[in-house]
Amino acid sequence: MNHSRMPLLDALKKHKQKESVSFHVPGHKNGLLASWMDLSLDITELNGLDDLHAPEECIKESEDLLSDLHHTVESKFLVNGSTVGNLTMILGTLSKDDTVFVQRNCHKSVLNALKMAQVFPVFLTPDFDEHTQTAAQVSKQTLMEAYKKYPESKAVIFTYPTYYGITGSFQELAAVAKSHDSLVLVDEAHGAHFGVIEKEMPMSALELGADIVVQSAHKMLPAMTMGAYLHIRSPRIDRTRIHFYLQALQSSSPSYPIMASLDYARSYFASYTEKDHLYAMSVKKRVAQLLQLKGFTCIFVDDPYKLLVRADGLTGYELQHLLEAADIYIELADPYQVLFIFPLLKAGEKLFEKKVVQQLSTLPFKARKTSPSFAKNLPSDHVSTLVLPYNEHSCSKREAVFLKEAAGQIAAEMIIPYPPGIPLVMEGERISNDHVERIDWLISQGARFHGGEKLNEKKLVVFRKEN
Ligand SMILES: Cc1ncc(COP(=O)(O)O)c(C=O)c1O
Repeated sequence: MNHSRMPLLDALKKHKQKESVSFHVPGHKNGLLASWMDLSLDITELNGLDDLHAPEECIKESEDLLSDLHHTVESKFLVNGSTVGNLTMILGTLSKDDTVFVQRNCHKSVLNALKMAQVFPVFLTPDFDEHTQTAAQVSKQTLMEAYKKYPESKAVIFTYPTYYGITGSFQELAAVAKSHDSLVLVDEAHGAHFGVIEKEMPMSALELGADIVVQSAHKMLPAMTMGAYLHIRSPRIDRTRIHFYLQALQSSSPSYPIMASLDYARSYFASYTEKDHLYAMSVKKRVAQLLQLKGFTCIFVDDPYKLLVRADGLTGYELQHLLEAADIYIELADPYQVLFIFPLLKAGEKLFEKKVVQQLSTLPFKARKTSPSFAKNLPSDHVSTLVLPYNEHSCSKREAVFLKEAAGQIAAEMIIPYPPGIPLVMEGERISNDHVERIDWLISQGARFHGGEKLNEKKLVVFRKEN
């Protein structure tokens, strides 16, 4: 197939040339009423522009090109991010009361989907990675231990890579899951660019044993926000169920600009060369050298397009402010460091490099040499379950208690430090002393949370004990 073609984008451009008068949605009338934005490609399901929910023409061709590129059974465009991809993947493959293994450091959309599917989740605690001070991947031992306790597990849900770009030995884990006849479900939100250059990059889960994979194209590829892909790699997936959830969970008026950007991102990926990659890496090297000259510490991870940066004596949040004052906006900060995500630059695209070098030269920092203190506090149980199952959550009463009284009680909310959006406490899980200490410490470091509606009063919502 010819990957220089972008059928959806071309169809939209052709329609634009007609300079037609719009009597159809959207209300801005091809951008006429919103001249501050280029909305002229924000059209709808007119003749010639196909329909995401029953694709037969240009959208079908665009999705077929995506499928061809990744050697899948079928690949679908998503207009509500990996969030809707994870919901679809889980609801479309699992049934009520199924036992399912879940890597604990997963995105909240995975947990929401588990609750909606009313399954029996078994959480697998990942290893702690000292190098990056983050939760990494699940070990083979943990997965084997889980199979000893729950051999009936229907599926394993992996997050590959982590937000911080750690890959681990996914291929080995997928093989263990398959040998137990479990489905391998992968949230590859942060790895849509994996395999872009075969020799230099980690491989995609699609090539390493996954049955179904979700990728946020908008995170690493040049697609619009919310643009994502769902890939069905194996015939073990019931495509009819997946199709049902895709049309049930996504808008019946999907955004054409988002879909067109997915088409564009696929073509961009397909035409990305080793020369482009080497150029992008030379820019990253230059940036890292400049940062090191200023006294920052750079931490390299498995994903070559990511870089962690620390400043001794500063929290990641303080470092983030310092960078923003120099007009450098990074992806995320945590208590120890910040995360830089580098663009997939094509050779000759000099503007980014010029700008970043200029901005970095204005950075006033010279780091002090102090040793940072780290606290890991990952749960000590490698394999754990909820003490209150999902089906009892809605009929149980809730109350807010002070943090110091919360240990030993059952959480009635998820506590998710954001970024990176990985739940520290699950709803229905017993709150431990570790949890309480960790939350207290994160608050003191200025972390932000999703969930935790009373955290500003230093309270957690728990299920009330019945007398
Ligand atoms: C691991 C992971 N999965 C899924 C998502 C959701 O992706 P999206 O923003 O595309 O909905 C995120 C968002 O950051 C994520 O980090």
